[in-house]
Amino acid sequence: MDRVTAAVRAFYEAYPYPPGNRPDCDAYHARLLLSYIERPAGMPRQLQLLEAGCGRGINLTEAAALQPDDRFTGIDINRVAIDEASANIRSSALANLSFHLADLLDPASLPGVSQGYDVILSYGVIHHLSDPLRGLQQLTEQLAPHGVLSLMVDGRYGRQPLDRFLQALQMVTPSAEQDGQRAETARALARIAEKGVFHGNCWQGTSSVDEVEFADRCLHVHEQSYDIEGLLQLLDKAGLQFIRWHQPDDWSLKTICDDEALIERLQSLEPSMTYQLIERLTYRPKLTLVAARKEDQPRHPPSREAFLSKRFCLSPQLRRVTDETGDTVWLLRGRKLSIDAQGLAHRLLTAASQSDSGFSASQLFQRLTGESIEPQQALNLFIQLYDLECLYAPHETDRSE
Ligand SMILES: C[S@@+](CC[C@H](N)C(=O)[O-])C[C@H]1O[C@@H](n2cnc3c(N)ncnc32)[C@H](O)[C@@H]1O
Repeated sequence: MDRVTAAVRAFYEAYPYPPGNRPDCDAYHARLLLSYIERPAGMPRQLQLLEAGCGRGINLTEAAALQPDDRFTGIDINRVAIDEASANIRSSALANLSFHLADLLDPASLPGVSQGYDVILSYGVIHHLSDPLRGLQQLTEQLAPHGVLSLMVDGRYGRQPLDRFLQALQMVTPSAEQDGQRAETARALARIAEKGVFHGNCWQGTSSVDEVEFADRCLHVHEQSYDIEGLLQLLDKAGLQFIRWHQPDDWSLKTICDDEALIERLQSLEPSMTYQLIERLTYRPKLTLVAARKEDQPRHPPSREAFLSKRFCLSPQLRRVTDETGDTVWLLRGRKLSIDAQGLAHRLLTAASQSDSGFSASQLFQRLTGESIEPQQALNLFIQLYDLECLYAPHETDRSE
């Protein structure tokens, strides 16, 4: 283990991440992630999923409980976190999950699986490595054919306020002095930054986050952040291509701009230029994306006819909740959708949420028995719900296994 890795390990053993016990699994759905690329028919039914740098394993444990047909493996260099994660499996009696102490830079330490991993997740890890490219190459080697890698790294532009704060902290207490006094000084400076560089942006509130989150933001020992151009180059060098953002709305001009004429003018930009424009105009502190090998193909939406017969599922990232006024609302990746709780879209989603094994558009329409629905209008709505990502089309697997 190199010097940087040893220092990162000591840091995370003192502050095992993530804080708290509330899982956030939006980026952990194996079948949804795989639906973003083309895969040949009849792939194995049981999927293998690896989280590289799983920390305390809270999200992976929840994901394994929600996806009992698939097999989950978590690795981390942090013994404290892995011991805790392993103890939690024993108490929850999950048979499809295991945690291992391993360094993702050291392939010999990784628990390999014969065909490789169909899905590899690595959130907030690559940017702590002594050699991020080598780390990404190792993960690419562990990918099964037609597998996907879902990554989160820190965004350089989005972190600018934090980086300015860290420069100030470094002037007062160098990062070599990792002690309680440094943490106290950092909190005191962060309280000043609340009225300055943190004001009104995503870093507001940093001075009062809990100890683990504060350490992760302000006291880390080795971290580098990426701009989009640099991240795309890193993927390219590792033999990977960008497939999509985890949250595409964050990278859409329509989200940041309501000037139709300007959007029209900017429409001619290459997608990567649009993203680079948005990263400069907004604060996007995290870059979370799905990548695949260069030879793989992003998936195309089904044809209009195929919508009627193909199998769809409700997105696992969609939630139906009751808001503070008692109204039903639909949240996709935490964001409210404008769906009228009396309308047909709502009724389609409600019918979809009652099906575990999936449905075609025709099957879903049949379930709305007793309602007079106009077929073309209902199909248009179904396609709109797919375009909004409320629905997705999982790959058919080899059910004979
Ligand atoms: C910010 S935490 C993220 C944890 C988890 N992925 C999450 O999102 O909650 C970074 C994790 O990466 C782990 N890590 C850093 N370098 C690693 C390496 N070379 N191999 C395996 N894990 C590593 C750390 O120990 C730590 O648990």
